[in-house]
Amino acid sequence: MLPINTYTTQEIKTIQRSCAYLFPPEKVFDLKFLKQINDFLLQQAYLQKVKYCHPEASKTDSEKRKNKKLQYLRKARQSYDFLLERVKLGAFEKTPAPKSKIIAVGGAKGGVGKSMLAANLSVYLAASGYKTVAMDLDLGGANLALYLGEKYIMDRTVNDYLNKKFPSLTDILVQSRIGPMIIGGDSSELGAANIHYARKLKLIKAIRELDADYVVLDLGGDTSYNMLDFFLLGDFGLVMTTKDSASYIGAYQFLKTALYRKLNRISGPEAGDEKITDSLLAQLLKDATQSSGKPVVGSITELLQRVTEHDPLDVPLVLRAIIDFNPYLIVNRITNPVQAQQVMQTITSLAAKTLSVPIANPGSIRKIPEIEDNLRNFTPLVAQNPNGKLAADIGHIVTNLGITPKNDTSCRDRLPLSLEL
Ligand SMILES: Nc1ncnc2c1ncn2[C@@H]1O[C@H](COP(=O)(O)OP(=O)(O)OP(=O)(O)O)[C@@H](O)[C@H]1O
Ligand SMILES: [Mg+2]
Repeated sequence: MLPINTYTTQEIKTIQRSCAYLFPPEKVFDLKFLKQINDFLLQQAYLQKVKYCHPEASKTDSEKRKNKKLQYLRKARQSYDFLLERVKLGAFEKTPAPKSKIIAVGGAKGGVGKSMLAANLSVYLAASGYKTVAMDLDLGGANLALYLGEKYIMDRTVNDYLNKKFPSLTDILVQSRIGPMIIGGDSSELGAANIHYARKLKLIKAIRELDADYVVLDLGGDTSYNMLDFFLLGDFGLVMTTKDSASYIGAYQFLKTALYRKLNRISGPEAGDEKITDSLLAQLLKDATQSSGKPVVGSITELLQRVTEHDPLDVPLVLRAIIDFNPYLIVNRITNPVQAQQVMQTITSLAAKTLSVPIANPGSIRKIPEIEDNLRNFTPLVAQNPNGKLAADIGHIVTNLGITPKNDTSCRDRLPLSLEL
């Protein structure tokens, strides 16, 4: 049996990725089932795959099909060995946590507090001892620099990189006076929001390669492909909402569109080596996840059924994209904890029904009138008041994301308590 209760979220995802090659999709998301996995169940599941995929069992198959089955069987075997080891050993050996460094702050609505969080979170992380970059990717309404107490439009911005004025992102990094480094945005240039596809991929690669412990991305409030791709770039994807129904329904739509975009990308150049070449499957995913018109499926469960009908060997690829979708919902401007609970309940139950993914809640942020003064006195509130409510709320969120202050130094002690303004 698997001691699921003792596993971290990342470890459960690792288990689920392996289960994708052995068990049907609904079992992969069923934690009760995962807990019951034992050597007998594993053996049965693996033997079933051998029966289906073995070359002797499918003499009429084309060479291509035989190869696809053999590849699948290899993965099923690896998964079987891995899960059997987990059943025998139980706990994961203490391996260093995977390097997760990109925190994308998104959401479908304007004015929900994305830039406020991105700015204050960057200050908090920098003060916790991490080399942090705050990057403005709100290509249509850049203002992160202003939130960080810098000029509205910095001397160097992401546009200078996109327009090839500077060859590297490092060239446009600016050290702020209050901790994080900044890559500023500039939406004054017409068309900045429409980056050419190849350049976007180059930018994404460059962000991943930035020499920093954390890169916090402030995104625009829309569901354009650019925004969705920047959001999906995050190791942590934070979706902001307020308690208002228009805002949280927007957040749910954003989550759904982002997952659909992720599924669609399985057949795109972003998928790299794993890219599917099956045009029928690509078309099925495209139809099922289209953003305009009536989609051909109503839920992810239905999509997985359609993929199973198409070819059961393709299911793990689609399942893995769903398992690796890792969103967090943050309710901002609450005046009472019940408000956040209600929003979470609504979104979690909607997401469980239609998206098959759990939505984590690392914490919420209270309505704090002093935040409004942020722009007037050019200093993020967390830097101004390191012991205040906002620092406490962000600290709670950071801890729940699994980020601990470097060198065990308490963040609050290291924040600039008095700033020369
Ligand atoms: N918890 C809060 N309490 C009080 N005011 C807040 C809070 N969060 C954000 N605000 C205020 O709400 C306004 C909008 O916030 P912000 O600019 O961060 O939103 P945004 O989501 O980035 O908007 P846009 O999509 O336009 O970029 C700002 O004036 C900000 O100071
Ligand atoms: Mg903003």
